[in-house]
Amino acid sequence: MSRRLDGQVVVVTGAGRGLGRAYALALAAEGASVVANDRDAEPVEALAAEITSTGGRVVAVAEAVGTRAAATRLVQAARDSFGRIDVMVTNAGADRRGPVLDLTDEDWEFTLGTHLLGSLFCSVEAGRAMRDQGGGGAIINITSDAFHQGVPTLAPYCVSKGGIYGLVRVLAAELAPFGISVNAVAPPATRTEPMLAFAETLEVMGLTEEQMDALKASFQDPEDIAPVVVYLASPEGRRLTGRVLGVTRREVVSLEPPTANRLGTCDPGPWTFDGLEAALAPLAAPA
Ligand SMILES: NC(=O)c1ccc[n+]([C@@H]2O[C@H](COP(=O)([O-])OP(=O)(O)OC[C@H]3O[C@@H](n4cnc5c(N)ncnc54)[C@H](O)[C@@H]3O)[C@@H](O)[C@H]2O)c1
Repeated sequence: MSRRLDGQVVVVTGAGRGLGRAYALALAAEGASVVANDRDAEPVEALAAEITSTGGRVVAVAEAVGTRAAATRLVQAARDSFGRIDVMVTNAGADRRGPVLDLTDEDWEFTLGTHLLGSLFCSVEAGRAMRDQGGGGAIINITSDAFHQGVPTLAPYCVSKGGIYGLVRVLAAELAPFGISVNAVAPPATRTEPMLAFAETLEVMGLTEEQMDALKASFQDPEDIAPVVVYLASPEGRRLTGRVLGVTRREVVSLEPPTANRLGTCDPGPWTFDGLEAALAPLAAPA
């Protein structure tokens, strides 16, 4: 029986646990050869053993992404093991959090390095390899709608995920001539270790038991998000580019770029202070 991704070579970063693990398993189940990356060797080697035991093709690469050198080695691992790279899924994530005014430089560098530079370098190095080998490909970044919610205590995370929105749009535009699609998936709250730990902090911040139960019941499972990653990796899904998709078990939405709401005009211009004061009044807090 032919499967959707037979003959395709995919790389998944942060595949040892949580969502990345579910993506890797779902991609392998559709016939892809998988390069499974994680900074931690034990979980990613266990994942590789699981894929191998079901007849899949997989190689585990234990290394932290976040630098150009790590991205280069990861793409090279795909070429060495399977001869090419067709799909890059930049999922790896770990962050430092706390009140924005108290975060250290190291907190910022760690989080932006993992989430934003990790996604950027892996996407760019995959894009270069796909361009050079010909035949197109797919890059799938993982972001979060936390960035436009502006979640308190998650500043480096929100900034990183916002950066990934920008990355998707510019890469989609620049890589389209090579037949490479670039999209992002923004999972809603999903039942993984860091999300469950974050929920506990909300309990500490005063959510009632019923509110906590309702919150946890609303969480998705990683397997609910994986199908859209498989779709974007497939030849059919590569007809989409520059999109950011949110998905739950039952719904898929497109997160569109911010819309410009016209608040006023002035003719002939330029704006006076009083003119701006009047035009922007609907946005301002009451005096
Ligand atoms: N869980 C959610 O609700 C949720 C919501 C929106 C977005 N996301 C995003 O999904 C992705 C996965 O999150 P998760 O909840 O599955 O987390 P997780 O902690 O369960 O899994 C992340 C994996 O990435 C690995 N990792 C961390 N830093 C790495 C690095 N530098 N290089 C390689 N591997 C690294 C970890 O070891 C871990 O195995 C993240 O990008 C996260 O921001 C998650």
